[in-house]
Amino acid sequence: MKGVGESLKNEIAVLFDLDGVIVDTAKHHYLAWKQLADELGFDFTVEDNERLKGVSRMDSLNILLEIGNISVSESEKISLASKKNQRYVESISNMDERDILPGVKAFLYELKSNGIPFALGSASKNAPMILKKIGLYDDFSAIVDGNAINKAKPDPEVFILGAKKLNVEPENCVVFEDAQSGIEAGKRAGMKVVGVGDPKVLAGADLYIDTMEDMTLSRIKGLFF
Ligand code: G6P
Ligand code: MG
Repeated sequence: MKGVGESLKNEIAVLFDLDGVIVDTAKHHYLAWKQLADELGFDFTVEDNERLKGVSRMDSLNILLEIGNISVSESEKISLASKKNQRYVESISNMDERDILPGVKAFLYELKSNGIPFALGSASKNAPMILKKIGLYDDFSAIVDGNAINKAKPDPEVFILGAKKLNVEPENCVVFEDAQSGIEAGKRAGMKVVGVGDPKVLAGADLYIDTMEDMTLSRIKGLFF
């Protein structure tokens, strides 16, 4: 007869956000948006930046412009978003496996060696390029990124699609997220959500960790009982 742990094997899956969960890109996004705000003549704080985490590039720009109380034409928006992205891509050009956040590699290894499939669920169109840079591209069973989705987090599309690709029911999936919009997306997908960060900033997760170093497979399984 199968024990509880064994019967769960292959029936659960993990979905990871990228920026701020797998790799330390969140600060590069913030600095590139901040530079744009400086040029447009307004202040953009770390607190304001929480609203942009997990949000698509164009939606982020719209929030930024709303914060600065600035309105621009659609074509100007496209050029501002592309300016931000060029700077962002430039600022992460030297990124490599040293930028993987603490505890991530060990946890992915634990999942892999226990046969637990995992996928990426990110709003970023740069996700495949970043995963290649840090040497994790081939480790994910599936990648759902900003190129594959129509509706940005907090819409659950990105995670629903990830579960589908892994062939696992949404209620058997665990999402790792550092963004409020991502936590909401995971809950709306009917999944368990682990918040990576401060519970005072992030609401609604089932469990909170400071870093992936605090994570083990048995804690994941504990979410289901
Ligand atoms: C992630 C980040 C956001 C970023 C978005 C789009 O969700 O948390 O800060 O704006 O991806 O990223 P991209 O690389 O496509 O501009
Ligand atoms: Mg994130």
